[in-house]
Amino acid sequence: MDIVVSGIRPTGKLHLGNYFGALKSFVRMQETNNCFFFIADYHSLTTHPTPADLHGNVKNVLVEFLASGLDPEKSTIYIQSDLPEVAELYLLLNMNAYIGELERCTSFKEKIRQNPQNVNAGLLTYPTLMASDIIIHKAQKVPVGKDQEQHLEMTRTFANRFNRLYKVDYFPEPVAYTFDEELVKIPGLDGSLKMSKSDSENNAIFLADDPAVIRKKVMRAVTDTGPVDPGKPKSQPVENLFSLLKTLSTPDIYSHFEEEYSKGTIRYGDMKKQLAEDIIRFNEPFRNRINQLSADNDYLKKTVKLGAEKAHESALKTIREVREIIGFKEF
Ligand code: TYM
Repeated sequence: MDIVVSGIRPTGKLHLGNYFGALKSFVRMQETNNCFFFIADYHSLTTHPTPADLHGNVKNVLVEFLASGLDPEKSTIYIQSDLPEVAELYLLLNMNAYIGELERCTSFKEKIRQNPQNVNAGLLTYPTLMASDIIIHKAQKVPVGKDQEQHLEMTRTFANRFNRLYKVDYFPEPVAYTFDEELVKIPGLDGSLKMSKSDSENNAIFLADDPAVIRKKVMRAVTDTGPVDPGKPKSQPVENLFSLLKTLSTPDIYSHFEEEYSKGTIRYGDMKKQLAEDIIRFNEPFRNRINQLSADNDYLKKTVKLGAEKAHESALKTIREVREIIGFKEF
């Protein structure tokens, strides 16, 4: 049985990218692995949420985890900040992480480009905190979307460095993993390569979005003026719509629009209408369960307590052993 760890930052509601990139694999992996899935609230502090927003966002993600089918009896579902051992391991890993390698991280460079007025140390050391999340349970597999590949590579670097430095074979080398083999990247509706909650308002479709909102967002999705030369590669925004259609519609529908495109007779409006209806159908069961679970505070409370207990047991064992390896000794 492999040990599996993954987390999602609570920065709003979960979108289709989070689901197809990560959450879908979480649900499938819990059947045959020892899984730890958490809400990465320490990580979300890099963008300075208000206390009310922080709590509300954590609750959203917890509800959406459960609405997607994560089972607190099968998986350990917990909140990152309930595990102070993670913060201790983060401190210890930071002593052997180099400024140069952290500065070269693509997601750091992207964040400081987007927000040059908020280049905080939490952003720089994001990869060591993420490595701590993963190796605190000595994970082998980490179900994530394609955008997290480099973070996983850095996690392996930190884990190996620890092993070499202390001449032990303690931490395994975790790999980025999805159940469907290839790491996934779901594109945005605004023509960008990645669906993301922090980009433009209409870029992402959330699992909790209702039909009217979905129709509005999809109908407003960016396209182009039509296939100028259907034999040439599609423009990025249109490629994005096809990619969403491939994920959410049936193969028949997908090939119908491919054919229309290659004949030069496609009407983007028709394709968008179809895509919107398929997303609505996909989202419906989530939306219903999200509404039910949001109202059940007792169940949420019980889930968080159980998760914290189970996660704590695993993390405490690791941190005790790590302290011993480093040389912290009792008198
Ligand atoms: P976050 O919160 O940005 O995203 C959560 C998960 O969703 C995936 N994802 C996508 N996958 C495909 N297409 C997209 N458009 C898309 N957008 C998001 C992400 O790849 C991710 O798997 N650093 C992580 C959170 C984290 C973590 C960890 C993950 C903290 N510690 C330890 C794994 C293990 C993050 O910011 O993901």
